[in-house]
Amino acid sequence: MTLRLTYPATAEDYRERARARLPRFLFDYLDGGATDEQTLRANETEWGSIKLRQRVLIDVDQVDTSTTLAGESCAMPAVLAPLGLAGMMARRGEVQAARSAESAGIPFTLSTVGICPVEEVQAAVTRAAWFQLYMIRDRARIKALLTKAWEAGCQTLVFTVDLPQPGMRHRDFRNGLSVTGPRAKALKVVQLLSRPGWLWDVALRGGPLNFGNLSDVVPDAGDLDAFKAWIDAQFDPTVTWADIEWLRRHWKGTLLLKGILDGDDARQAVNVGADGIVVSNHGGRQLDGVASGAGKLPDIVAAVGSETEILVDGGVRSGVDIFRALALGARGVMIGRPWAWALAGAGEAGLNNFLASLQQELRLAMTLTGVTRIVDIGKDQLDRYPEPGKRGEK
Ligand SMILES: Cc1cc2nc3c(=O)[nH]c(=O)nc-3n(C[C@H](O)[C@H](O)[C@H](O)COP(=O)(O)O)c2cc1C
Repeated sequence: MTLRLTYPATAEDYRERARARLPRFLFDYLDGGATDEQTLRANETEWGSIKLRQRVLIDVDQVDTSTTLAGESCAMPAVLAPLGLAGMMARRGEVQAARSAESAGIPFTLSTVGICPVEEVQAAVTRAAWFQLYMIRDRARIKALLTKAWEAGCQTLVFTVDLPQPGMRHRDFRNGLSVTGPRAKALKVVQLLSRPGWLWDVALRGGPLNFGNLSDVVPDAGDLDAFKAWIDAQFDPTVTWADIEWLRRHWKGTLLLKGILDGDDARQAVNVGADGIVVSNHGGRQLDGVASGAGKLPDIVAAVGSETEILVDGGVRSGVDIFRALALGARGVMIGRPWAWALAGAGEAGLNNFLASLQQELRLAMTLTGVTRIVDIGKDQLDRYPEPGKRGEK
């Protein structure tokens, strides 16, 4: 109760509000990571070890947070990351998030497994969404999805390469989300009934709750058993770099590869003609035990930073974290869970406030480190530059 009387100020505050609003299995699906969640924790804590240089007596009257990402003007170097099932976290969640991103002047990325179809999202905004795609076995469907996204106005394709199969997420098992059968159904019903506000707002008034871009193959997102069966059948673990070359030939817009965590893979991404990469471990949801985005960024910047555009995600929770990512050599960041926490916990107005506060924190970090333009943020603003790991040193 006390929670409701205060104003949410940080990503963590929105997270707590989302926890109070969402049925347990949905909150844990959003919040959780793979197995012991060590990588998830590393994502969230390791930005904090990057220390900045406080500088004084520099004219910082005019600080400008604007930049370009994938050739697009952005009010700050941040993008809303693709989150599957976001429309289950809030009513028509992807539409609300796209509107909020547009008013904040940043791109929104629509997941392949979002609830709202790309046409619905695009009809609500004037800014083109970025479209995220997984490689599915049915290549004709891939081509159809590419055409659908292009015709809806999307020009940037975020192709996710770190999910040949979904990771093992113990919270989803415990809550019955990744389990089929009557007992698991009953467990979910109990969790649903304890959140009447969500039932009224999202379940009753937020439909259709299906995977908008795939509604002909998986008609009902509420039927998680059918969704799981489809994922198991369609996610394609045979994908290789040759398929990315195929994709490059079929997508005439900007192509970003998301889920690169290794300097050698970053080099391959450049070689196959990607326009940029997203350094990511999928928010710690795939292989527990891999390094954090913050930890791998210096290696990857050392490997390909002068040749391609690098975004990074995983645990970015504040404007200061955005600044840290840029100081390590990224051009921008993706923000994942926090946008859905804000939307689920405090609605579109909450997300608007959260994005405004990210920008204000970034502006303040620039002010207090003595830089007025995004392009000037770099190693000079770091107290100490982390040495790239051996594999990054060519
Ligand atoms: C609930 C959830 C669903 C996700 N769904 C997708 C998805 O459909 N496609 C994708 O490329 N990444 C997906 N991701 C990964 C995010 O795009 C992003 O890489 C990650 O959330 C960044 O970490 P952060 O949440 O700590 O900011 C998902 C992440 C979460 C938490």
